Amino acid sequence: MSAPTVLHVAGARPNFPKAAPVIRALDQRGIRQRLVHTGQHYDERMSEVFFRQLHLPEPDVNLGVGSGSHASQTAAVMAGLDRLVSVERPALTVVYGDVNSALAAALVAAKLSIPVAHVEAGLRSFDRAMPEEINRIVVDHVADLLFATSPDAAVHLGNEGIPADKVHLVGNPMIDTLLANLDRFDNAAVRAALALPERYLVATLHRPGNVDDAADAVDLVKVLHTVADQIPVVMPLHPRGRRHLEDAGLLTHRALRVVEPLGYLEFVSLVRGAAAVVTDSGGVQEETTMLGVPCLTLRPNTERPITVTHGTNRLVTRSNLTEVVAETIARDRPPTWRTPPLWDGHAGQRIADVLASHLG
Ligand code: UD1
Ligand code: UDP
Repeated sequence: MSAPTVLHVAGARPNFPKAAPVIRALDQRGIRQRLVHTGQHYDERMSEVFFRQLHLPEPDVNLGVGSGSHASQTAAVMAGLDRLVSVERPALTVVYGDVNSALAAALVAAKLSIPVAHVEAGLRSFDRAMPEEINRIVVDHVADLLFATSPDAAVHLGNEGIPADKVHLVGNPMIDTLLANLDRFDNAAVRAALALPERYLVATLHRPGNVDDAADAVDLVKVLHTVADQIPVVMPLHPRGRRHLEDAGLLTHRALRVVEPLGYLEFVSLVRGAAAVVTDSGGVQEETTMLGVPCLTLRPNTERPITVTHGTNRLVTRSNLTEVVAETIARDRPPTWRTPPLWDGHAGQRIADVLASHLG
C-alpha cells in the first residue's frame, strides 16, 4: 500500500499565503502531498507570482476553471476534482479560507467520504449577502478537522453545534507567511519603483458590495478622491473592480495612483510603510494588525473582529471615510500594540501536527 496522501486544494490569491506554511510543515514531516490549483485565479499577478515568491511547489494539477458565475465556477471545480479525488483517494483533503474553490473541494471530498480539513474555520461576518459567508458555513459543516485562527472563531463553531474535538485553535498561517518574510519586505525599493513619496496611503477594494454596482462606484470614487486630496493614494487594483471604478473616473485624480495587483513581497512592503490602508480585504485586515499599520475597513461588518479588538482595524463607511482618514494620518502610529493570541509564526506547524496525528 502506498503512503497516505494529503491533497491541498487552492485556487485564489488569498489561498496561497495560507497554504505555503502548511505545505512546508507537512513536508518537514515527510508526508506525501499533492497540490491542486483550481485555476479560479489565473493572471500571473494573481497566482504565479505567489508560487515563485513563497516557494510553493508547482501544482500537480491545474484544473483551469477560470472565471464564471458562482454556480458555474463551483461546479467546474467540483467536476474536475471529482474525477481526480475518486482515482487518487487521498487520506485527507485540505481547503483554505472562504473562496468558491474551497467550497467546491470540501463538498467533493465529503461526498467521497474523504476527511476534510478546513484552514481558517469559524470566521463569521453574520452577513449572508457575502458569498464568502455561505462558503464558510457550508465548508465548516462538512469538515472533519477545523483550524481556527482566533478564539471567537472557535466559539462560533461551538455555537453552531460543531463538536469541540473537531476544532483546533492554531493561530494564523497567513501570519506565518508574513513573519517568515519580514526580512524580504523592502519599503524603499517598492516606493522607488512606484515613484511614491514617503507618506502615502494604500487602498485595495474588490468586494462585490463595494465594486459591483456602477452607481455605487461613482460615489466610492468621489470619496476616494477626497482622500487623495489629503494624502497621495496608491491603489493596486484587483481585476474585479477595475471596469466600474475606472468608468466612474477613478483615474482622474493626480494624487491617486492605480497600479496592477502587486506580488506578495511588493504588496506587503508597500503596506508596511503606509500611513494608513483603506481596504475591504480579509487578509489585509490581518496583515495590518500584525504590522501596526492603521487599517480602515470599508465594510459594514468584519468576520475578523479580533483585528479590531486587538489590532489596528476600524470599520468605516463612505460617509465617514474622509474624516477618519484625516484623523488617522494626523496621529502618530502607536509605538506598541496588541496582536492576537497565537499569531506567532507557528500555525503551520500546529496544523501539521494535527494532520499528522490524524493520519496516524
Ligand atoms: C475571490 C473570492 C473572494 C476573495 C478574492 C480574493 C469567491 C466567491 N470570492 O473573489 O472571497 O476575497 O477572490 O482576491 O471565491 N479575474 C481576472 N483575473 C484573475 C481572476 C479573476 O481578471 O486571475 C476577474 C474576472 O473578471 C472575474 C473576476 O475577476 O470574473 C472575479 O473573480 P472571482 O474569482 O470570481 O472572484 P473574486 O472577486 O476574485
Ligand atoms: N495581495 C497581494 N497583492 C495585491 C493585493 C493583495 O499580494 O495587490 C495579498 C495580500 O497579502 C492579501 C492577500 O493577497 O492578504 C489576499 O488578498 P485579497 O484581498 O485578494 O483576498 P481576501 O483576503 O480579501 O480574501
